Amino acid sequence: MVNFVKNNNYSKDWKRITICGGGNGAHALMALLAENSNCQLTLYLPLEQEFQHFEAVKNRRIPFRLIFKDKEFSVTMNRLHITSNPKEAAADLIILVVPAFTHEDILNALAPYLRSGTVLAALPARGGFEFQAVEILRQHKKEEVVIAGFQTLPWACRIKEYAKCVEIYGQKKRVGVASLPCHHVDSISMAFNKFLKLEFLPYNNMLELTLNNQGQIIHPGIMYGAFSDKLSRFYRRDEVPLFYRSVDENSAGLLEAMSQEILKVKKIIEDNSSLKLEGVISTSQWMVESYAEDIKDKSTLSKMFRTNLSYQTLRVPVKPVDGLYQIDVKSRYLTEDIPYGLLVSKAIAELADVPTPTIDEVIQRASKWVGVQYLINGKLKGKDLVKTRIPQNFGLKSLKAITEMVTKDHPY
Ligand code: NAI
Repeated sequence: MVNFVKNNNYSKDWKRITICGGGNGAHALMALLAENSNCQLTLYLPLEQEFQHFEAVKNRRIPFRLIFKDKEFSVTMNRLHITSNPKEAAADLIILVVPAFTHEDILNALAPYLRSGTVLAALPARGGFEFQAVEILRQHKKEEVVIAGFQTLPWACRIKEYAKCVEIYGQKKRVGVASLPCHHVDSISMAFNKFLKLEFLPYNNMLELTLNNQGQIIHPGIMYGAFSDKLSRFYRRDEVPLFYRSVDENSAGLLEAMSQEILKVKKIIEDNSSLKLEGVISTSQWMVESYAEDIKDKSTLSKMFRTNLSYQTLRVPVKPVDGLYQIDVKSRYLTEDIPYGLLVSKAIAELADVPTPTIDEVIQRASKWVGVQYLINGKLKGKDLVKTRIPQNFGLKSLKAITEMVTKDHPY
């Protein structure tokens, strides 16, 4: 019999924290944790090239710079341990700060070394992290690991100089967090409030996180709504359109329609089970709650995007072509946010018998651009579904099965 640890205050005992990944978000998190926590920090870099880069910078004792809303800080990284060995990544708290399409490989690499009581968190989780993590932990017989997920990355951030400098353009006011088993969420959110100095809102369960993943609406929705007719254009670097400032009233209408379809799924699940999903909110409400006074004009969703201070400088993803730039349809806005986001919600909608015509339209068109097949006539029948995080891929074929999994005290 499994002796599951029911300690409700894990965070008190966290002495070692590992950050997995070496991208934008990992740079930001590393700098903030180095500043705000007294824990021993490890940076686990599965990509050898990134590991070598960090090692070289560390050996030369180059100080790390954090630019936060135009102010620059020097961060001491003396206690940072850098490794590419998953065995050395074992810690009390492990935070994956990587695109969702890398979660599976990283979880499989880490799983053999996870210790009882470890909190394994994804920042952000995107959709269906819970289904995948449970399956991998079960395969490795790691029953006493707690899973946690965050509804979004708290920052809009970009690396300025690899391993040396990151810029945070904006910080959300609050970020949802959920755990599995659910009862650990309060202590996890309190610890993150302290470490990152922003509000972490405890969710009831991890399904709430999957359905309230706003990136699944915003990123594919804007790519489809605002840029469909611009894919064949070539831009000079300084002409590349701003991503969020390109959201006109029509594109915002599309985002609202997608958001309403997910809210219908929420209602059907709440009506037919005891699951509480009040954390699942509309995109407009999420914008207001996440960015508050950073948004100058809250009168319409389009204006919220266009006047959000955090969104002013980010451009549509592009790839270089013959000295110019073309919109990159293989960017994570489509290759992450559809198979690890929108499609997961679409799959849950299918189990709930909720039609999702707007979401289907976005998935079908974007799939063609990327060269993958998920839907056939609006149904989950495409050949590339196997590489996605839909619950059906993990043996969860009814709402009841999903509900039971996310609420169980011991889901493995
Ligand atoms: P990124 O693209 O900068 O990070 C990529 C990192 O993932 C790489 O540096 C590497 O360390 C790791 N990685 C990539 N391929 C790998 C592989 N095959 N195996 C192992 N590791 C691999 O991503 P970023 O910007 O840090 O974003 C992280 C997450 O946060 C994503 O889910 C993203 O959608 C989300 N997000 C990011 C925002 C931002 O402003 N950067 C804003 C909102 C959400």
